[in-house]
Amino acid sequence: KKVVLAYSGGLDTSIILKWLQTEYGCEVVTFTADLGQGEELEPAREKALMLGIKPENIHIVDVREEFVRDFVFPMFRANAVYEGLYLLGTSIARPLISQHLVRIAHETGADAVAHGATGKGNDQVRFELSAYALDPSIKVIAPWREWDLTSRTRLLEFAEANQIPISKDKRGEAPFSVDANLLHTSSEGKVLENPGDEAPDYVAQRIVAVEDAPDTPEFIEVGFERGDAVSINGEALSPATILARLNDYGARHGIGLLDFVENRFVGMKSRGVYETPGGTILLEAHRGIEQITLDSGAGHLKDSIMPRYAELIYNGFWFSPEREALQALIDKTQEHVTGMVKLKLYKGSVRTVARWSDHSLYSEAHVTFEDDAGAYDQKDAAGFIRLNALRLKLIATRNARVAGK
Ligand code: ARG
Ligand code: SIN
Repeated sequence: KKVVLAYSGGLDTSIILKWLQTEYGCEVVTFTADLGQGEELEPAREKALMLGIKPENIHIVDVREEFVRDFVFPMFRANAVYEGLYLLGTSIARPLISQHLVRIAHETGADAVAHGATGKGNDQVRFELSAYALDPSIKVIAPWREWDLTSRTRLLEFAEANQIPISKDKRGEAPFSVDANLLHTSSEGKVLENPGDEAPDYVAQRIVAVEDAPDTPEFIEVGFERGDAVSINGEALSPATILARLNDYGARHGIGLLDFVENRFVGMKSRGVYETPGGTILLEAHRGIEQITLDSGAGHLKDSIMPRYAELIYNGFWFSPEREALQALIDKTQEHVTGMVKLKLYKGSVRTVARWSDHSLYSEAHVTFEDDAGAYDQKDAAGFIRLNALRLKLIATRNARVAGK
């Protein structure tokens, strides 16, 4: 029996690793992804070796470009936002991790994958729906739903009994659960559990406090091609590099901090603090370029399906026919979303201040308040309004009649 574990190198997944070896008696293969979480990954290799994993069973993969190009950017073409505010930073990384778990399972002849998500959250759903969509016969082991290590104390006892190193800060209760990648850092639990209590300042670890952001604004120009960002200030950059640079700009200016209570797919509400500096800039920039390049019919249609699309990603249905169908629609609308956006970054805010495009639908000739030289006949508007008003007049007349006036 062989299982591929999504392994971060942290305490919890190290305990899971050991538990799979001892309780399940299976050979463990580890997968550690560099998603741009900003942590060294070599310690994860050493820790895995120390826990008895064979060198050839340790897989550490830099997936940053893949993550941004194939997951983040397609999602941003939709301007996807969950429940009005959350930019889905954790949700969008889970299908990619599952894809690699399944790939490695196939390559190493493993019949199962394992993850460290709890039985209470969204992540278990996302990992597992993705895995089953990619391999209907794969087995999933979710130790958090099976083991009896139901308290922090018992977890630490298990770690000690199995010579798993525990860093000092983990001996006390970890203040909250953190998940980081190139798109965001999320923090949940412990000090954040009462939504009536303000989050302590130290929870935000990526973004500068607005109070400490520079007193002078900064301007950047983001270039787009077919809905995807391709350059910053005229410099062509890879997807992951663009997001990394936007993260630097955003973090410095205090942009992209969110304190939010959301509805989890499993039914409960949860409160989290999210830091999405680059993503917040990217969303504004993408909307900025869409403003001049998207037709209103296509634009309003994609806006109307956006909440459904975001919910599919949140709920773990990235690999589903309905997400793919919506993606095809969204991608079609992006054919002319090419051009340049100038943004102003200042004290926690990002604002589009100018946009240009060879694909623009904006017609100054039509919209001008000056003489339009016959581009538009204002008299056409009279009939347009008359016909649109017709049924409103009929309704008003009927209402007056029924009210007996
Ligand atoms: N609530 C967010 C979501 O469902 C963040 C989840 C964070 N996950 C974690 N393992 N810390 O997308
Ligand atoms: C977890 O429960 O593992 C993290 C939170 C979530 O998945 O929603």
